[in-house]
Amino acid sequence: MVLYVLCAILTLCISALGAAPNGPWDAFNLAPDSRTVYPRSVHGINGTVTDAHSLLSNGSATLAANGSFVTLDFGYEVGGWISLNFDNVSDSSSIALSFTESPVFIRPYASDDSSYPSANTTYDGVLEVPAPLTTGYWTQPIARLRGGYRYLTIVSTSHDPVTISNISCAISFMPHWDNMKNYSGYFYASVPDFFDEDFLTKIWYSGAYTVQTDTVPLNTGREVPFVSSPGWLNNATLGVAGPIIVDGAKRDRAVWPGDMGIAVPTQFVSTNDLLPTRNALSTMFAAQNAETGALPESGPPLSQQGSDTYHGWTLIGTYNYFLYSGDYEWMENVWSNYTKAVRYLAGKVNATTGLLDVTGTRDWGRLWQGGFNSEANAIYYKVCVNSAEIASYLNNSELSMEYATNASTLKTTFNDAYWWATEGMYRDNLTSTLCPQDANSLAVLFNLTESAEQAALISEGLERYWNEYGSIAPELPDTIAPFIGGFELQAHFASGNDRRAMDLLRREWGYMLYTNLSVQSTLLEGYTSNGSLYYRSTDGYNYDPAYTSHSHGWSTGPTSALTFYVLGLTVTSPQGRTWLVAPHTSGLSSVQGGFETPRGWFGVKWTTASTSFNLSVDSPEGTSGTVILPINGTTITVDGSIAQPSDGISLHLEGGNHTIFVQN
Ligand SMILES: *[C@@H]1O[C@H](CO)[C@@H](O)[C@H](O)[C@H]1NC(C)=O
Ligand SMILES: *[C@@H]1O[C@H](CO)[C@@H](O)[C@H](O)[C@H]1NC(C)=O
Ligand SMILES: *[C@@H]1O[C@H](CO)[C@@H](O)[C@H](O)[C@H]1NC(C)=O
Ligand SMILES: *[C@@H]1O[C@H](CO)[C@@H](O)[C@H](O)[C@H]1NC(C)=O
Ligand SMILES: *[C@@H]1O[C@H](CO)[C@@H](O)[C@H](O)[C@H]1NC(C)=O
Ligand SMILES: *[C@@H]1O[C@H](CO)[C@@H](O)[C@H](O)[C@H]1NC(C)=O
Ligand SMILES: *[C@@H]1O[C@H](CO)[C@@H](O)[C@H](O)[C@H]1NC(C)=O
Ligand SMILES: *[C@@H]1O[C@H](CO)[C@@H](O)[C@H](O)[C@H]1NC(C)=O
Ligand SMILES: *[C@@H]1O[C@H](CO)[C@@H](O)[C@H](O)[C@H]1NC(C)=O
Ligand SMILES: *[C@@H]1O[C@H](CO)[C@@H](O)[C@H](O)[C@H]1NC(C)=O
Ligand SMILES: *[C@@H]1O[C@H](CO)[C@@H](O)[C@H](O)[C@H]1NC(C)=O
Ligand SMILES: *[C@@H]1O[C@H](CO)[C@@H](O)[C@H](O)[C@H]1NC(C)=O
Repeated sequence: MVLYVLCAILTLCISALGAAPNGPWDAFNLAPDSRTVYPRSVHGINGTVTDAHSLLSNGSATLAANGSFVTLDFGYEVGGWISLNFDNVSDSSSIALSFTESPVFIRPYASDDSSYPSANTTYDGVLEVPAPLTTGYWTQPIARLRGGYRYLTIVSTSHDPVTISNISCAISFMPHWDNMKNYSGYFYASVPDFFDEDFLTKIWYSGAYTVQTDTVPLNTGREVPFVSSPGWLNNATLGVAGPIIVDGAKRDRAVWPGDMGIAVPTQFVSTNDLLPTRNALSTMFAAQNAETGALPESGPPLSQQGSDTYHGWTLIGTYNYFLYSGDYEWMENVWSNYTKAVRYLAGKVNATTGLLDVTGTRDWGRLWQGGFNSEANAIYYKVCVNSAEIASYLNNSELSMEYATNASTLKTTFNDAYWWATEGMYRDNLTSTLCPQDANSLAVLFNLTESAEQAALISEGLERYWNEYGSIAPELPDTIAPFIGGFELQAHFASGNDRRAMDLLRREWGYMLYTNLSVQSTLLEGYTSNGSLYYRSTDGYNYDPAYTSHSHGWSTGPTSALTFYVLGLTVTSPQGRTWLVAPHTSGLSSVQGGFETPRGWFGVKWTTASTSFNLSVDSPEGTSGTVILPINGTTITVDGSIAQPSDGISLHLEGGNHTIFVQN
């Protein structure tokens, strides 16, 4: 309690309190239990390698001939600096290291790619240990950090034997946390009739850990201009302060605000480690164009410009950070930059059409951005709605009203302009015959729809894009983009199509987690419609499947979706002073979880049987919330007393711990 009060006073709690209870879910927490990790198995050897398995118990192995190599498996995605002992070397011995996330790119002559995409898949090459080798302890140079990998290959590059031991990796991510497993939130659902009864729990923790691997020290960004082949460097400065949240562990290792639209809710429900998010947002505002108010598309050293949608995502990220943290001091500090950035978007609204006219056409990778694009207008709508809310928290009712009016006008205009009744979906722009996955998912999620029927049609329409590997985005043909998939997932829940959401979850995230093309722990940036790693081959990635990131925060949509929708727990005002519990039972029989804000612990457990529903809700004293029951009952009790909600399902509760029982 003392800690909670302290946290409420300090505007931000830097280290989590680790409030999540212990239980069987802890077995699925992928974060390492130490900042130094060791290989867990020998994936393979080639040539003359003696005693390779001794390396797993801190014994020595000898690589005896040129080209002989051993591949060590850390068992899951890691990232950091390798150290090892050279026990016996000669003047002419030499070795090199190569790194890869996917087992497909285990090669003694090259790592997977991170510096630049190239069809030869070997742009990065290997890390040569400078010769002549000397006996003793060696550590990978700081600037040559490899941010994400699972497999380490050590190859002898001379005829003379080399004896090595004591191989470890010093984890580079989450630099401000000693105990990376110390989550403040959790989620647990065991589903006996699933293909893997622990799938939902695994995917929740996979997303949480993915975002941890993307939480990095300030001076570990990918070097720009990109180093020439072969090579890589990760010692660029990423922003105004660290630690900072980037898109991916291996690459790009830069702040991308669109990605944060998914990654930050993941971070909130799992670690509540929002400092890296604040640093990323501060970085974007600090780089705002003083004249126009435009925000950059990405953080330094990339500092990409020219994206109206990512400009919008920085503003949405600001709202999310403020909602979760209740950091009024920071919000007030960026407020004039924030409102200037909103004006920048408002200034793009065309007086004739009433729609935002996109001129900054860079986006998440989709094609045909520009002009009166519906996805961009959906994002702008959400910016208006959020801004009205923030303005009212800051007691600026005039501005709040102005933003709210803009929002409601845009909602009508949006529906008049884009709704295509024959398709039951929104179109891409005023003349397009394409109904994009992004705009339709966001429109449902942001409540641009005007009726439940309309949302239901969109949910149904989106399913037409599926195959066995997931949802193929028509606005980026042949591509499965889990970033947009994460919004689609939420749209199915939000429109009450829970079974459809669960189906998509199994196809798309089930594929990523279990396919032996992937790192099988953290989540892929994207892939093609037949499940291959050739993501964005024709769209900037130069047919390089080795360039794809296997630990991308933007693919972690299920983590927050399982907490916000399946468990049903969300905050509706800063720090959860007000909250909502609205479980989506989704065919499951028992779910529990919770998270923490500076106000304290929020926990939910529910079980359901054919004619009853049991719910327990823990929330801090001084808060209040609404429970929306997933079933109507003939008898409802709250803490043992009969309740009779007027609509049959909504209950208002004060903070504290409650049990609710519904008998049908
Ligand atoms: C393994 O070694 C053999 C010869 O000893 C060689 O033919 C083969 O190409 C090597 N494999 C790899 C992956 O280097
Ligand atoms: C070191 O390697 C050399 C050459 O292979 C060998 O002759 C020597 O015995 C080794 N020394 C030890 C201490 O293993
Ligand atoms: C791979 O292609 C890049 C250009 O994209 C080139 O710089 C590099 O030298 C090539 N690597 C090899 C091994 O050919
Ligand atoms: C080791 O093998 C590589 C590739 O076959 C070759 O280029 C290199 O010259 C060899 N090194 C020595 C010292 O023989
Ligand atoms: C491995 O052995 C070396 C001595 O050879 C020792 O310094 C090191 O601490 C050991 N590492 C572990 C993890 O026990
Ligand atoms: C990164 O490291 C390289 C190699 O050590 C060095 O040349 C370069 O100046 C460093 N860049 C920055 C931004 O520190
Ligand atoms: C606001 O934007 C200006 C550039 O227009 C920048 O110099 C300043 O640091 C920004 N303020 C904050 C709090 O980010
Ligand atoms: C607004 O949109 C209309 C219709 O597309 C176009 O004719 C007009 O030039 C636009 N106005 C501005 C100021 O861009
Ligand atoms: C509208 O979208 C389509 C793709 O759906 C694209 O081909 C076209 O160029 C876009 N039109 C405008 C005016 O942006
Ligand atoms: C969504 O919009 C409709 C009006 O179109 C409104 O009645 C409803 O309350 C909104 N839902 C939420 C959750 O804001
Ligand atoms: C509960 O009953 C009300 C009418 O009393 C109905 O409108 C509502 O749809 C029902 N809700 C559920 C979840 O069955
Ligand atoms: C609510 O339950 C939690 C355990 O889930 C406990 O730690 C907390 O003290 C309880 N709060 C109140 C107000 O009883």
